[in-house]
Amino acid sequence: MTFDKVKMLEFPQRGDERGHLVVVEGEQDIPFDIKRIFYIYGSDAEVVRGQHANRKSEFVLINVAGQSKVKVKDGRGNEAVFSLNRPHTGIYLPKLMWKDMYDFSPDSVLLCLSSEHYDPNEYIRSYDEFVRIVNEE
Ligand code: TYD
Repeated sequence: MTFDKVKMLEFPQRGDERGHLVVVEGEQDIPFDIKRIFYIYGSDAEVVRGQHANRKSEFVLINVAGQSKVKVKDGRGNEAVFSLNRPHTGIYLPKLMWKDMYDFSPDSVLLCLSSEHYDPNEYIRSYDEFVRIVNEE
C-alpha cells in the first residue's frame, strides 16, 4: 500500500446563517462506501490510542469537535503526523497503515468512518508483525 494514498480531505460545507453543515458521502467525498462509524471521546491528553493496522479496513478520521493528532506509518520507513482540528477536514487512511492517535484535547470528538464492519481478526496489533506483513507483500 503506497504511502501517498494517505491524504487530508476537505469536505463540502453547506452551512448558512443558521450554522454549519458538513457533508461526507461514501464513494463521493471519500474513496469508500461507509459500513461503520464509531467515535472516540473522553481520552486524556497523555493517552495513545489506535496502535494497530488493519488488513482490510480503510478509514477516514475527522475531529468533529476539539483536536487530536494521528501518526501514520507504512512499515517501510515512511511516517507522517497529521493534526485533526477542523470539523470539515479529515484524513484518509488506506488499509495496512499503522496509526497512533494522541494529544486529544478535552473536548475532542474523533469520528471514524470505516469501509468494513468490525472484525477483530483483521486488526494487526503487533508492530513487528505489521512490518513483517507489509514487507512480505
Ligand atoms: P480499540 O480498537 O482498542 O480502539 P482504538 O483503536 O480506537 O484505541 O477498541 C476498543 C474496544 O472497542 C475493543 O474492545 C474493541 C471494541 N470495538 C468494537 O467492538 N467495535 C469497533 O468497531 C471498534 C472500533 C472497537
